[in-house]
Amino acid sequence: MTVYLDNAATSFPKPPRLYEQLGRLLEEFGGCPGRGSYAMAQRSGAVVDEVRRLLADLLHVPEPQRIVLTMNATDALNMAIKGVVRPGDHVVTTVLEHNSVARPLNRLEHRGLIQVSRVAVPAEGIVDPGDIRKALTSRTSLVAVLHASNVTGALQPIAQIGPIVREYGALFLVDAAQTAGAAPIDVEAAAIDLLAFPGHKALLGPPGTGGLYIGPRARLSPWREGGTGVFSELPLQPEEFPYAFEAGSPNTLGLAGLRESLQFILQFGVAWIRAHELSLTRQLLEGCRADGRLTVYGPSRLEDRIAVVSMAVQGCPASEVAQFLDQERGIAVRAGLHCAPGAHRALGTFPDGTVRISPGYFTSADQIDRCVDALREAAERLPKRSLRVCEMVG
Ligand code: ALA
Repeated sequence: MTVYLDNAATSFPKPPRLYEQLGRLLEEFGGCPGRGSYAMAQRSGAVVDEVRRLLADLLHVPEPQRIVLTMNATDALNMAIKGVVRPGDHVVTTVLEHNSVARPLNRLEHRGLIQVSRVAVPAEGIVDPGDIRKALTSRTSLVAVLHASNVTGALQPIAQIGPIVREYGALFLVDAAQTAGAAPIDVEAAAIDLLAFPGHKALLGPPGTGGLYIGPRARLSPWREGGTGVFSELPLQPEEFPYAFEAGSPNTLGLAGLRESLQFILQFGVAWIRAHELSLTRQLLEGCRADGRLTVYGPSRLEDRIAVVSMAVQGCPASEVAQFLDQERGIAVRAGLHCAPGAHRALGTFPDGTVRISPGYFTSADQIDRCVDALREAAERLPKRSLRVCEMVG
């Protein structure tokens, strides 16, 4: 059986009841939500409504209808960025961002439509809120910051950044790709206007699910327009939430699975899940730090982390370590740049990248021991090379 340690890419396995629900939806009540008054469609519609309510509970969103359901976090981030920024705007972001934030902003900047300031990070990879303040101008319409790095697991001080952004009248977009379900999130307490999250990572749901919370200060142009099942007489997309941003038949199957995983998470509580995952992270960090040939990146304090650890085996390319773990020891981890080249430049690990190990809810302490043993064995057995590394940026 594979030891799966790539939960930062997508969580595996899922809660057991999720698998049952997928089958039940297809066999028993697979009508199209909001598209008919017959019982099958209403039953599917109730699933979608419940997903929104459960997400609102989890993220402390007062109005569930302000959670727009999307395909994944990338979809939500594109919807937010392209819906908010206008020609002439200035956007503040960080060097740590995943390509799902970096690329949409880079393209708008390359077309000469916007200016972007990318805030650098100190060695441990945690943004200084004071640096965000320094980057803000009277033209800043959006500040986009990830909640935790998908490379180092470094949690960012979003609760301190949010009020600064609000003071300047800009909108605060948080990319919660790695944290929704794994770390507490309160959109009101952190003054978040836009929160993008996937359903298939720490929310433990199926692929093809995600969402965007759109707060009352945010005015977005619609990302996709089309059928909503209601207000069909209107020539334009309705302004009511969530229809303003949800067009087309939803992913009812995925949402039925997400409903189960959200119930599962709420039953245990995010605090409990975080404590469990941090205990595995501590074990992993201690195992790596005890061996001089293994280098761990990211924050030194456990509480500044989520369960995502980037590391290197001295003299060994990250891809060869991951291949050794997979082929020789049946351990699945992700190597390379993790779609976040800026984060690797900041760490000094570009272009080879790192070996990223991300335990999840279903990971056991025994699996972490097996991983640490396998890393030591890789350090022993793999041929050593001189690796290309870039200078650290910022
Ligand atoms: N964004 C995902 C990751 O970090 C896929 O691996």
